[in-house]
Amino acid sequence: MAIKLVTTAAELRAEGARLLKEKGGSSLGFVPTMGALHSGHATLARTAVAANDVTAASIFVNPLQFGDAVDLDRYPRTLEADMDLLDAEGVDLVFAPSVEEVYPDGQPLVRVTSGPLGEKWEGASRPGHFDGALTVVAKLLHYALPIGGLPAGSAADGGAAAYRAYFGQKDAQQLALVRRMVADLNFPVEIVAVPTVRAEDGLALSSRNRFLSAEEREAALVLSRALRLLEQRADAHEPLDLPSAVELVRSQPLVELDYFDVVDPRTLEPLAENCQDTPFRGEGLAIIAAKVGPVRLIDNIPLNS
Ligand code: PAF
Repeated sequence: MAIKLVTTAAELRAEGARLLKEKGGSSLGFVPTMGALHSGHATLARTAVAANDVTAASIFVNPLQFGDAVDLDRYPRTLEADMDLLDAEGVDLVFAPSVEEVYPDGQPLVRVTSGPLGEKWEGASRPGHFDGALTVVAKLLHYALPIGGLPAGSAADGGAAAYRAYFGQKDAQQLALVRRMVADLNFPVEIVAVPTVRAEDGLALSSRNRFLSAEEREAALVLSRALRLLEQRADAHEPLDLPSAVELVRSQPLVELDYFDVVDPRTLEPLAENCQDTPFRGEGLAIIAAKVGPVRLIDNIPLNS
């Protein structure tokens, strides 16, 4: 196995700098994860490896973003399989810190607040989730910041390596919030969005899919079907007729719809006037969340016309 595992921030810095020097590199790609990796994460890692001289990933189940201790305990921990997957994609370095390493003083007193953008949609049913996620993303991005130890003749000339962090489009609200945090607080990192990876039948890959029974998994397909319906209408410059797509989802008895709307991809504000009976124009994001059996699923699809 070529990949290296480190567990402290100091090791991550030292090893990242050493690898950049060894490879004469001038770019660092960083892929933050909570582990339980699947092909969606493999695509994130592959995209980062293809664009950067050195790629690091983190695996950390962040207690701050779980509202419920049971959910936190239930979250799968599969470090060995995760390392194999990341190694196969060519990732150089994995940072898998303990909770004490990340939060040495217990719960942090000062946190990133996600504001109104973090209170709607997913934030409405998971209060505090995005504050917790943004706080750890801020910390992780700082840990991996490629400063110091850079080789002369490459990035060191300009003072720093290019620094890119990779996030899945599947978690559209998290992506929008990370982009805002990085812009609003001047983080020196480029955020790269990687398109959602789907199973052949259309289901968006998620670590939670493993908790679906066969019957629930079949029922869950209505989410991607309804999104595709909107995509087809947008592509055909037809009215989106969101209510009929909502009806399709509601017709599936095992699916309890939470929200389904078309929003601005940056602000996540509804594009209400674009959803009814006039042809769809411009750029939007169709977002959906539903409970299928015990599992809450989210999905989205970009719309362009
Ligand atoms: O998307 C995730 O896996 C997590 O929210 C992240 C970005 C790794 C922060 O814990």
